[in-house]
Amino acid sequence: MKELLKKLTLKEKLGQLTQLAPHFFNEQLKAKLYGKIKDLEINYEELFYLGSILGIGGPKEKKELQDLYLKNSKSKIPLLFMGDVIHGCKTIYPVPLAQACSFNVELVKENAKMAAREAKAFGLDVTFSPMSDLVRDPRWGRVIESYGEDPYLNYSFSKATAKGYQEEGLISCVKHFAAYGLSEAGRDYNTVDLSRVNLFNYYLSGYQGALEGGSEMVMTAFNTFEYLPATINRYLLTNIIRENWGYDEAVIIADYDALLQTKAHGVTKDDKDAAVKGILAGLDIEMASTAYLRTLEAAIKKDKRIIKAIDEAVLRVLKLKEKANLFNNAFSGDDKLLAELINSKEHQNLSYQLAVESVVLLKNENNILPLNKNIKVALLGNYATSNDLLGAWSWYGDTSQTKALNDFFEVEYLSNGEDYQDYDLEKIKKIEAIILTLGEEAKESGEARSKANINLKYSQVKLIKKLKKLGKPLILILFSGRPLILTEIIKDVDALFNVFFLGSNSSKAIYDLVYGSVNPSGKLAMTFPRSVGQIPLYYNHLRTGRPFLNDGNPYSSHYLDEKNEPLFPFGFGLSYSSFVYEDLKIDKSSFTLDELPTIKITILNESKFAGKEVVMLFIKDEIASISRPVKELKQFKKVSFQAGERKEISFKLKYQDLAFYNQDLNYQVEAGDFLVMVADKSLKITLKGDENEDFK
Ligand code: GLC
Repeated sequence: MKELLKKLTLKEKLGQLTQLAPHFFNEQLKAKLYGKIKDLEINYEELFYLGSILGIGGPKEKKELQDLYLKNSKSKIPLLFMGDVIHGCKTIYPVPLAQACSFNVELVKENAKMAAREAKAFGLDVTFSPMSDLVRDPRWGRVIESYGEDPYLNYSFSKATAKGYQEEGLISCVKHFAAYGLSEAGRDYNTVDLSRVNLFNYYLSGYQGALEGGSEMVMTAFNTFEYLPATINRYLLTNIIRENWGYDEAVIIADYDALLQTKAHGVTKDDKDAAVKGILAGLDIEMASTAYLRTLEAAIKKDKRIIKAIDEAVLRVLKLKEKANLFNNAFSGDDKLLAELINSKEHQNLSYQLAVESVVLLKNENNILPLNKNIKVALLGNYATSNDLLGAWSWYGDTSQTKALNDFFEVEYLSNGEDYQDYDLEKIKKIEAIILTLGEEAKESGEARSKANINLKYSQVKLIKKLKKLGKPLILILFSGRPLILTEIIKDVDALFNVFFLGSNSSKAIYDLVYGSVNPSGKLAMTFPRSVGQIPLYYNHLRTGRPFLNDGNPYSSHYLDEKNEPLFPFGFGLSYSSFVYEDLKIDKSSFTLDELPTIKITILNESKFAGKEVVMLFIKDEIASISRPVKELKQFKKVSFQAGERKEISFKLKYQDLAFYNQDLNYQVEAGDFLVMVADKSLKITLKGDENEDFK
């Protein structure tokens, strides 16, 4: 690729660092959509310098555009096609927040492979996924795209998803680097401010997982880090990704127009200033703007560092195109194959399986679930007949092809009305159970969809309370793009499934769960607060100097008007099975790093239902050189049990289960006591060594 780089003119180089949407190539469209080319301050001929395309409508459009481009391009370097395949291309599987509740890393990887096969047939070379932002604030609309509040879960699913894509030849671009999920007050695009200790111990875990899983690209976040927008932040883009982590070939792309938005941040004065700061920070490709193309030539004269930075960036992009096999096959994409894949049982079944495993059963009073198919039910609420079940960022998923709940449920009475007066009460009085489907609309979450109030809508609260008065078992199926505040209704419902959005096979999955042909096994990947005033509220919080001990001491960390605890904690989820955690054992309670202990737990499924249990290993570092969380998830296994089966599950402790970044950002383990926790069992273990001895 170095030889090719040498042949390029400066303008051809700068074009390789520029990405625009495809419609600018479409003469009659360009005047209508997203402004005109002149808004980008380039002319039609300059489009044939571009390096990559944001989004595409399918294999046919891709081939036409590549053909047009190569006919007019001087460099003849094919375009790279990128897009947002976030949880499926045409066959849509659960939104990432729901996927994380499955705690099934292997199944998520298989779904990512499935999505990659369809995306490649669609004509894409790159997907802007996984989204690996750690989240602790459900007011933020983009929690739906994340893997929740736990760093290890974020790491695990990001790694599995990236691996799945890359194994099928789809290039993965992990986003949004870095810590976009910490947008203040949960308001999208708002300020982010955190310490490097917090960044390294918690917020970088997902991106690290994705890069370890093989992501070849990184997308910058809209927000600042240490008061400098990520898109021009050399500490983030070069020091961490390239120098500290060693991904010197990673191609870094700005989020949509984020380079020019540095002017709105008040840190660049014009397009040229933004372009210079971007290229010198390590930003390779700018998305949806043309500052590099228009201004860097003039800038070079004043600063020789710039041409070196440009050449390094272009070389990374050329190598990426080589990895994408672009020079051998610029016209990838296959309509016929895409149709076969979409209609394949394998793809539909993968999406269905993950939907089943992503649902969290939050309540099942008196075990009224699973329902018996002989009882007469009413299916009510705005999701009873809806096919808008795919969730945000469903790319080319087709809701018109998505079956609704009433395509599966055979009911005595059906109404998609949202108000009590919509219902025929005479009919309802004759039935034996109510299945009520409520929650947020799909458009209430995703990008630019933050909410200050995340209570269940008042009209829906009112409806639940009125239906409760009928004295029938009330089963709530809750759709949302975030944890909602359910405190006001949790006592009124007898059973509650939290589904978020499950994709193309939502309805069959929910039907099978309600009637017990499959057993719920999901666990919450994000805390459900009692009230919005508790936010941010997450399980792996630090201790405080004045912990609330409920001992009447007023000078302790608590509220006058709310509990400290959530309504439902991270890791919570019920099953039709009943899992009894018996003995927790450890082969050595005092150990060295050369001989790390093994933890074993015996679990009995004492019920008549076969089921899967997520067994989670938590660690607490009792005393360290910095304050450490009250508990942290370090390993987990999803284990299948037959009815009545007892199993012993073991965890071999690993260095990274004990390690953390200290104030000097050294990644290390410190000697001393640790508490090992599995469910309600715990054991103390000790790493031998001097009190302040640390192990790199
Ligand atoms: C959006 C999103 C980003 C997405 C990109 C391209 O603004 O922030 O997640 O990948 O633009 O669509």
